[in-house]
Amino acid sequence: MAIRLGDTAPDFTAETTQGTIHFHEWLGDSWGILFSHPKDFTPVCTTELGAFAKAKPEFDKRNTKLIGLSVDSVASHEKWASDIEQTQGQALNFPVIGDEDHRVADLYDMIHPNANDTLTVRSVFIVGPDKKVKLTLTYPASTGRNVDEILRVLDSLQLSDKYQVSTPVDWRDGDDVIISTAISDDEAKVKFPKGFTALRPYLRLTPQPNK
Ligand code: BEZ
Repeated sequence: MAIRLGDTAPDFTAETTQGTIHFHEWLGDSWGILFSHPKDFTPVCTTELGAFAKAKPEFDKRNTKLIGLSVDSVASHEKWASDIEQTQGQALNFPVIGDEDHRVADLYDMIHPNANDTLTVRSVFIVGPDKKVKLTLTYPASTGRNVDEILRVLDSLQLSDKYQVSTPVDWRDGDDVIISTAISDDEAKVKFPKGFTALRPYLRLTPQPNK
């Protein structure tokens, strides 16, 4: 069964490059990003894991933990780690799950048999501190993901979690945001003291509240 937005992220215990992890306990009060790659010692995956590791300080700033997964073993991930460091100029700095028996991959429906019946696709799950799934993404093996886009969505999710706002098309951190239609104009005047522009009654823009 596919995982849908708002579902509780399935809990699991797994062996990783940083030891045994009990997923929910490991997340604690943090946000989390669980992502799969198809296979160790493959080119696109090597660039992706290097890029996620380079961006870890950005995820840390957002109170967000990263955890990778493929159906290779922990020993294989450990051997591959030196290739990642040598070719991408960055050592792995987050755990990668060894999921040879597909246990976690099956829980998260990361194997799409019509694409490949044994390897995981490039899945991304953003999980909130409430353990609910906030975003799912699925990319094919041939396309590397965009770390900036994942950070952008995380910023949007965290803003809308804290203030009653959403973010418009192509929004970037610092741009104006949209006030929820659940808030009246009178409430908006109090809640958003920087003011707002109403292009339509349902489309009210305000400067990003936390800037
Ligand atoms: C890659 O990472 O380059 C890759 C992995 C599995 C299948 C195809 C490409």
